[in-house]
Amino acid sequence: MFCRDFSFAKACSPRSAAAGPSANDAINRAGSIEKVKRYPNGALLIKENYDAHKKLTGVTAMLKLDGYDKADRDWVMGAYKPDGQVVSHGKVQACIACHAMVTKQDFVFAPPPAQLLPASIWKAFFPRQAMSAQYVKLLDQHPDAIVK
Ligand code: HEC
Repeated sequence: MFCRDFSFAKACSPRSAAAGPSANDAINRAGSIEKVKRYPNGALLIKENYDAHKKLTGVTAMLKLDGYDKADRDWVMGAYKPDGQVVSHGKVQACIACHAMVTKQDFVFAPPPAQLLPASIWKAFFPRQAMSAQYVKLLDQHPDAIVK
């Protein structure tokens, strides 16, 4: 299991025989997530999202499925409530629109603070949600890491 732990989220790519070659293998082979240009068929990335009180608020996942969505790098996108209920699934345009910012990394963001979302983009996607204070602090500390 390869996991990246942030103060506000945890992203994992578990090994899974059923899912085929995992992102974990791809990441290990490439040396780091930023060097991975194409994830293998079956790669599964899972991100747990937490609020400021470290309470799980939801899970997002991406599964690489050859031929599923060629225009958007063949990722199946999924969002789930903490109890596993499906929020959205498939070629979810909201997910794709934002992850397309890092097309050259095969739609996969590097963990903060290596790559950060501009505040303007964040607010455009989540207008009713306050930005995490920790994220705002990271933006101040690492202006060069903001994805353009
Ligand atoms: C407004 C931009 C935005 C939207 C919309 C968005 N994401 Fe992300 N996603 C990110 C960023 C930035 C990261 C990197 C980690 C972080 O900052 O939380 C990320 C990380 C992830 C990861 C971990 C792998 C990685 O790229 O680092 C998964 C899986 C993921 N998102 C799935 C989804 C799914 C599924 C949806 C739609 C339900 C979605 N995301 C919507 C910006 C977005």
